[in-house]
Amino acid sequence: MLAVYAAAIDRDDPLSGLRIDDRPDPTVLDGWTTVTVKAASLNHHDLWSLRGVGLREDRLPMILGCDATGVDEEGNEVIVHSIINDPSWHGDETLDPRRSLLSERYQGTFADKVAVPRWNLLPKPAELSFEQASCLPTAWLTAYRMLFTRGAVPPGATILVQGATGGVATALTVLGSAAGIRVWVTGRSEEKRAQALELGADQVFEPAARLPERVDAVMDTTGQATWAHSVRALKPGGKIVISGATTGDAPPAELTRIFFLQLSVIGSTMGTREELERLIRFCVDKGVRPAISTTLPLSDARQGFEAMLRGETAGKIVFTNS
Ligand SMILES: NC(=O)c1ccc[n+]([C@@H]2O[C@H](COP(=O)([O-])OP(=O)(O)OC[C@H]3O[C@@H](n4cnc5c(N)ncnc54)[C@H](OP(=O)(O)O)[C@@H]3O)[C@@H](O)[C@H]2O)c1
Repeated sequence: MLAVYAAAIDRDDPLSGLRIDDRPDPTVLDGWTTVTVKAASLNHHDLWSLRGVGLREDRLPMILGCDATGVDEEGNEVIVHSIINDPSWHGDETLDPRRSLLSERYQGTFADKVAVPRWNLLPKPAELSFEQASCLPTAWLTAYRMLFTRGAVPPGATILVQGATGGVATALTVLGSAAGIRVWVTGRSEEKRAQALELGADQVFEPAARLPERVDAVMDTTGQATWAHSVRALKPGGKIVISGATTGDAPPAELTRIFFLQLSVIGSTMGTREELERLIRFCVDKGVRPAISTTLPLSDARQGFEAMLRGETAGKIVFTNS
């Protein structure tokens, strides 16, 4: 089958290990099933994998891709939840120390077929296209958990989203705005900031800009480049919710400000199957749809990887199978 996979790892030149070629069908374990993939969305995680973050060399070749939609063996339209738990694990899937995402230990979704535990399949509602629904299980689920579970941001509160056009950033803007949260966004270009306004941001700012007032919470996936600004943007008692560190994870910690203003730093990772179910319902009931910038056939996936590496995102990049 056609697949987009990591054949080698290179920290500095991640796309040198990217291949688009034939791979064997995935192994179907006990209790697992096969999904014929219709659409799968690109996440920064796929670039991290090619850099060797979360993907070990001895697991290569590895088909990339965390999330997908498709058709199961019975002909049902499904959404694939990406977290694979240890069979003995019970409770919040994101807390299982042995969990992995598709494409870390088990072959990923950028292929004609993917094998997953039956439990990981959710029905795809007719209201969402395969392309739209394929954005939900990673970037959108992460944003949902950051805002509503880990951040517990109430309607009417003000948040700052660091980054305008990435997968998680656009999801934070759309979901936050739909939930009645006042959303402020930083973006690295005029064009990116204009897109955030279109998606529902109330105000947009250049990176590190002085804000009109301090915010209740900051949503940060950028890391080093934005950390100091995120800490300074908060009201006393405010919180930063982080789920990524795209630009690195070693900025000055700003410890004094954190304890003196009694700020909370909250980590967040992916989300549970139950949260994904709620996210899907939220999208259907409120007419919320993921922002998709680019849809490409799987055979042209390299173009999508190149755009993400250059930071030329404008929402999600989706790969489709005919
Ligand atoms: N913990 C988890 O479960 C989880 C889940 C999903 C994602 N993540 C992590 O979250 C991060 C974002 O993921 P994504 O898929 O949304 O990535 P993406 O689509 O490539 O988006 C990157 C985002 O980073 C922003 N950014 C700001 N300053 C930047 C700089 N100097 N260099 C590069 N980017 C900069 C971009 O802002 P502009 O709009 O201004 O370009 C953009 O919004 C990644 O590190 C990813 O691994 C973690």
